Amino acid sequence: REVGFIFDLDGVIVDTAKYHFLAWRKLANELGFEFTKEQNEMFKGVSRRRCLEILLDIGGVTATTEQFNRWLIEKNEDYLSYIEKMDQSEILPDVERVLSYLRSKNIPIALGSASKNAIPILEKVKLTDFFEVVVDGNHVTKAKPDPEVFMIAAKQIGVSAQNCVVFEDAIAGIEAANKAKMVSIGIGDAQVLTSADYVFKNFTEMDTSFLDKLINQVD
Ligand code: G6P
Ligand code: MG
Repeated sequence: REVGFIFDLDGVIVDTAKYHFLAWRKLANELGFEFTKEQNEMFKGVSRRRCLEILLDIGGVTATTEQFNRWLIEKNEDYLSYIEKMDQSEILPDVERVLSYLRSKNIPIALGSASKNAIPILEKVKLTDFFEVVVDGNHVTKAKPDPEVFMIAAKQIGVSAQNCVVFEDAIAGIEAANKAKMVSIGIGDAQVLTSADYVFKNFTEMDTSFLDKLINQVD
């Protein structure tokens, strides 16, 4: 197989960052400090455990192992309650168009996400069928910017790393793709995602000719 496409989930396919934010802010407030949208930027692409470490640093809170694990569970339970009612209306603009186009060309599509909630989210927004392979936070030992998640995805779709294209909204995710020697496409702000090979504000700006160029260029 010649080329493969790997999608991050949060911030690329669905805008779940706002729900992660609400859940982390609730925990911060319970622990007696504020947590802002700007601080939430640091949490994108970052594993749940690492996010809690950063959050506790922000609040100057030290935790016992028991408290730490309890807060992890609490945050996730709140997050799950926020995403419970998620449906297809929360798919980011033109994601389905791009997925459908790639599928029409018989190109293998994988998910490469740090989230342990990836499968239920794909189910809720009814996109599961597009993905031949799902590699998520349950399958990796090293978090982005380590390339592990994307390397496993490439292996599972049977495409060599340098022939894979990655869509990512997080700096850590772009770094992971670059380390894997994949083509990195930032979805978001070009001033933030400076090391990406290409950056688009969102998929509405990505036309078929660009996708064709990627498909042909990675060979
Ligand atoms: C994604 C999000 C992060 C989140 C991580 C783990 O990478 O961008 O903000 O912390 O997944 O998600 P989880 O659903 O397992 O808590
Ligand atoms: Mg993301």
